[in-house]
Amino acid sequence: MGKCILKGVILAFLAILAHCQNVTETSSNAVPNSYICELCKCENNNVNCSNKNITTFFTREEWKGLKDYEPKIVDLSGNRFINVTVIAHLTIEVLNLSRCSIEFIEDASFKDLEELKVLDLSYNKLTKAKLSPHAFEGSFIPELFKSLASLRTLNLAYNDLHSLHPDLFEHVPKLEQLDLSGNPLTTIDHVTFIAMSGLPMLKVLRLRSCQLDEIPSKFLHTPRYLERLDISDNLLTSVPQELKENEHLVYLNLNQNPILQLDAGSDEYPGFPRLPKLQELHMSYMPKLRRVGEGTLAGLENIQKLHMSFNPALRHLHPKALAKVHDVGESYDWPVVKELYLQSNNLFEVDSRLLSYWIFLEKVDVSGNSFSCNCDTQWMVDTLVPIVENRGGNASLMVCQDPAEMQGYNMKKLHDDHYTMLCVDKYGQPLEKDGNILLGTLIGVLLAIPIMLILMLLWYRGCFACIGLCSPGGASHKSYKRANEEIIY
Ligand SMILES: *[C@@H]1O[C@H](CO)[C@@H](O)[C@H](O)[C@H]1NC(C)=O
Ligand SMILES: *[C@@H]1O[C@H](CO)[C@@H](O)[C@H](O)[C@H]1NC(C)=O
Ligand SMILES: *[C@@H]1O[C@H](CO)[C@@H](O)[C@H](O)[C@H]1NC(C)=O
Ligand SMILES: *[C@@H]1O[C@H](CO)[C@@H](O)[C@H](O)[C@H]1NC(C)=O
Ligand SMILES: *[C@@H]1O[C@H](CO)[C@@H](O)[C@H](O)[C@H]1NC(C)=O
Ligand SMILES: *[C@@H]1O[C@H](CO)[C@@H](O)[C@H](O)[C@H]1NC(C)=O
Repeated sequence: MGKCILKGVILAFLAILAHCQNVTETSSNAVPNSYICELCKCENNNVNCSNKNITTFFTREEWKGLKDYEPKIVDLSGNRFINVTVIAHLTIEVLNLSRCSIEFIEDASFKDLEELKVLDLSYNKLTKAKLSPHAFEGSFIPELFKSLASLRTLNLAYNDLHSLHPDLFEHVPKLEQLDLSGNPLTTIDHVTFIAMSGLPMLKVLRLRSCQLDEIPSKFLHTPRYLERLDISDNLLTSVPQELKENEHLVYLNLNQNPILQLDAGSDEYPGFPRLPKLQELHMSYMPKLRRVGEGTLAGLENIQKLHMSFNPALRHLHPKALAKVHDVGESYDWPVVKELYLQSNNLFEVDSRLLSYWIFLEKVDVSGNSFSCNCDTQWMVDTLVPIVENRGGNASLMVCQDPAEMQGYNMKKLHDDHYTMLCVDKYGQPLEKDGNILLGTLIGVLLAIPIMLILMLLWYRGCFACIGLCSPGGASHKSYKRANEEIIY
């Protein structure tokens, strides 16, 4: 009995001991004793110091305190330090220095972050003069020329860079993603051009809101593997033909540029060059775009997602905008579009020839246009409405604008009512209906005149007597009336 109790007590003691050991082990892993982790939230190899009102960057000694903790993601965004200084040897992979009022980055600040993949320096106050190529200098490794060999993503968006130092990227040659959005570049000058040509591996480039009025030729020559390009919200007035150098481009965003039209026959407003791999195109929120001409999208042989929405002036989308003339013969090839967004433009129709396989669409939205509802758009009511509805769209939002008697009708309702729309002339006047009435009237008039003449002739000759009516000679209203009354009763 006593032995048993003793055994139990010993077992319990051992269990508590083991438990304590576990607790102490995990706690020593999770919360290392460091100044930074006292100030910030340290959890699962994340160090979160965002919005802590930090006004001076951590010293190298303070960074060293994180060593045992092996931090992977360090978020310092939303603080207020002006200078970034050299960081200790750490395993950081993602360093977020966004929104910190940073003006200076000390040379080789990140050289001991050998695993650094993502560096976010967006929304700071970096200028061309203050941002030196040496900021990105790595530690010395013979054949790597002091490069930050593992850095893949660099975000410099929303700083104050009017231009880039020509050697800015000399220490980050393996960069795959670069964001320069929101910098007042205005033009890609010679030095910026040279800087960009130091990025042969670039796959993603964002140049949104940079006040660019052109993309210089050969600008995209070096990043030949570029897959995604965002040049939205700039001042481009035509589709940049320089894109043709980029055979690997998969995604292109041209939103919010003042492009007037796309016209394959014009030098001023050309269509797209051949982009054989492009899958996703954004051409929305273009205030001036009014026309997309024949064949202007034909170079996009593999386009799958076409976003062309919220272009309030876009009236004409040519039925063969996407059709590419087949190499042999006179037939056409169409891309197999899976997502088509044409909402809130000013289109008067969606032509059935725009795509060859409407049935392959997975998503489609053509709502919010000013559709003409007539026999030319009957196919939309008959065929497109069920396609829209079957893909989760709302065909009630496909509304007729003209002719006047159709205004406000929605195509879903017309579809449900099996409504047949009339043909109209170019002024929107009903064609067949009016034509029929006109023809009918004409035939009527033409037939009526001789019939009247014959009748009058017969009447005067007194022939009506034979059917019980009198000639005007012996006119008797009474008898006529009587005859009528007789008929009535
Ligand atoms: C201690 O942790 C190990 C695994 O880490 C676990 O198998 C064991 O059950 C834990 N012991 C206690 C008492 O929590
Ligand atoms: C840091 O914490 C803030 C909220 O305090 C959160 O919004 C942010 O996503 C966190 N950052 C990381 C990298 O987890
Ligand atoms: C941030 O720190 C400054 C002083 O350095 C202080 O005046 C300010 O109130 C602080 N702001 C917040 C939100 O803590
Ligand atoms: C950095 O933090 C900001 C929040 O201030 C966030 O919007 C951004 O996505 C973060 N960057 C990275 C790379 O996580
Ligand atoms: C930041 O660095 C610059 C130049 O390296 C120096 O002149 C300035 O005094 C520093 N500012 C602060 C607040 O440390
Ligand atoms: C479709 O749009 C109409 C008109 O705005 C609305 O009344 C209706 O609720 C919508 N239907 C669905 C399924 O969202």
